[in-house]
Amino acid sequence: MGWTSNQLNALSQMFVDFCGQSSRPALDIGAAYGVASLAALAKGARVIANDLDAGHLEELASVAGSEPRLQLLPGRFPDFDLPPASLSAVHASNVLHFLTGDELTLGATKIAQWLAPGGKLFVHAGTPYQQPFSLFIPQYEQRVAAGESWPGYVSDTREVSTHRRLGQIPRSIHLLDAQVLRRVFEDAGLTMEKVWYYRRHDLPRSMHHDGREGVAFLALQSSVSTLK
Ligand SMILES: C[S@@+](CC[C@H](N)C(=O)[O-])C[C@H]1O[C@@H](n2cnc3c(N)ncnc32)[C@H](O)[C@@H]1O
Repeated sequence: MGWTSNQLNALSQMFVDFCGQSSRPALDIGAAYGVASLAALAKGARVIANDLDAGHLEELASVAGSEPRLQLLPGRFPDFDLPPASLSAVHASNVLHFLTGDELTLGATKIAQWLAPGGKLFVHAGTPYQQPFSLFIPQYEQRVAAGESWPGYVSDTREVSTHRRLGQIPRSIHLLDAQVLRRVFEDAGLTMEKVWYYRRHDLPRSMHHDGREGVAFLALQSSVSTLK
């Protein structure tokens, strides 16, 4: 399942600052040991921490102590449901690359339903522009030029990379980009606020490529039709 970080990236810091101001809970998808969830709790937020590995969440809970504002939600996103318009924010950092295109589409629809009007989505994802995938970049760019829906989907990373860290990289991976994130979440009904590429300083230097290793995406639930 890759690495988790012990440093908040810029996008996660924005999530923490935003959800600390709301009385509605925020959902942290793929929370792992809680790098963002614990910081959001410290800011006063109510946090629903999700991860498919319940052991990760138990570790997070043991650090949080008996914190009534923390709810654990073990399970695989997007296979669970939450009440409509119930969340202030959704954070998905370094987890959407585990989803296929169809799962991403379903997940985006669910996130858009779960966010209350004015709620925000904070996504961070790995792009094809990482050193282990340098041999894949020409194929990815050809797929983009051909208008493919999921140009960054790699069904077997062993077929496109010989990088020495390959053993720590998932067998299949969905490398994402600004265009795909924008299309998927706008089609689901969210309004894009900002998207940008950046260098992930928490990655080993051997993973760096050209400064576009990570893509951050920020979107707003601007609909009022879900208001109850
Ligand atoms: C690479 S870590 C990222 C953790 C943290 N969000 C961060 O930014 O450092 C990915 C985490 O997502 C979890 N995960 C993977 N696929 C998932 C899914 N479909 N639903 C929920 N959690 C998932 C893994 O168990 C792991 O803890």
